[in-house]
Order: sequence, then structure tokens, then C-alpha cells
Amino acid sequence: MRLDIITCLPDLFDGPMNQSIVKRSQTKGHVEIAIHNLRDYATNKHKNVDDYAYGGGAGMVLSVEPIDKCISGLKEQRTYEEVIYLTPDGETLNQRMANQLSLNENMILLCGHYKGVDQRVRDHLVTKEISIGDYVLSGGELAAMVLADALIRLVPGVLNDESSALTDSFQDNLLAPPVYSRPVEYKGWKVPEVLTSGHEANIEKWRHDQAVKRTEERRPDLLD
Ligand code: ADE
Repeated sequence: MRLDIITCLPDLFDGPMNQSIVKRSQTKGHVEIAIHNLRDYATNKHKNVDDYAYGGGAGMVLSVEPIDKCISGLKEQRTYEEVIYLTPDGETLNQRMANQLSLNENMILLCGHYKGVDQRVRDHLVTKEISIGDYVLSGGELAAMVLADALIRLVPGVLNDESSALTDSFQDNLLAPPVYSRPVEYKGWKVPEVLTSGHEANIEKWRHDQAVKRTEERRPDLLD
């Protein structure tokens, strides 16, 4: 999977994209992430990538030209299944959407800033608009990192334990059951006996029952 991320704040990606599973996915060659600084595609001498909104009003708008130049250049090099714009008025991200998108090979993630992007970008260049929740961030960068992380861990080979993504919360529309590790007792707090019984079928049943119970208590909407 290759992700081309277009942003005015490329440095924001330095930390999160270079740690842990996301870093390993790149060094192992499963994933390629390229960060593109929109400012490099500015056409005027001041390197501006935004401008005042027609009709007035507060806030600057990211201009169509630098975004088009950047996207067109990328499209000359490879074909993209999706050009995704991160925006609070997009479709809300969930695990089903992440599963589907993780099957794609090449995607562009466009981060908005200020008051958003010129509508012509959304009308003519963007193929999908995604929100990570009903709240407004100061830019699309954190949302792009959330989406990238959710997709990368689904790429085959990225997680060490191949089965572990399948047992995540939200796969099967169930939250994940509780997990325990050593010691078997700490300050009198005990691990449920079934988990140390070695009885595979009973353990599976316990996990499923706990997942259903947790989902009923916390997210009954998932069971509808
Ligand atoms: N940009 C600003 N807020 C956002 C959100 N909630 N989701 C995606 N992109 C955003």
C-alpha cells in the first residue's frame, strides 16, 4: 500500500509516522508513505497556498491550483484508487470503511487547513471525503494520521500475529473481550479461572460471552 499525504504542515508527520508498527510497516516494505509539502506547489512568489474567500467572511481557503498541481504530478506516476479529503463534514470513519480501504494499493490523503479547500478541489479532484468524528480539529493532519494508522495495521504482514487484527474491537461488530497476563494473582485481583484452564473451547466461549456483554453494556448500537 502506498499513501501520498498532501499537507501544509509536513513536520507534523515526523513523529507518528516513524514509530512502532507504522514505522516497521515501512522498513519491512509493506507500506510506503510519502509526505508532500503543498507549499512546494505554490505558484506565486510568496509561496502562498491559501487566499481570501470570495464573498467575504473569516478564514482563508486553500487554493485549487497548488493542490491540482500536486495531485496531477502524482497521477502521472501511478494510478490511485482514491483521493481522500479529510474533513469534518465527510463520512464518519469506522472499521468497515477501514477494512475496505485497506484493500487499495495507492491512495492520496489531502489535509485541509484554515477554512477548508476551494470547493472545486472537492468537486473535481477528490473521490472520497472522510471525517474521524463529530468534532473539529485545527487541520486534517491528525485525521490523516488516524486514518493511515487504521489502514496500515490491516495490510497483510504488518502485524506480527496475523490473527490479531481479526480479534480487534469492531471486527464482527463486537467490542474485544478483556485480556489478562501474568501474574495470575496481584493484590488479591485474580485472573478468571477459565483462562488458565487450558480448555480451548471454554476459553473461546468465555471470550465470546464477554465480548457480547461488553458490547451490550457499552455500545448497544453495534448489536442492532
Ligand atoms: N479536519 C478537521 N476536523 C476533522 C475531522 N473531525 N475529521 C477529519 N478531518 C478534519
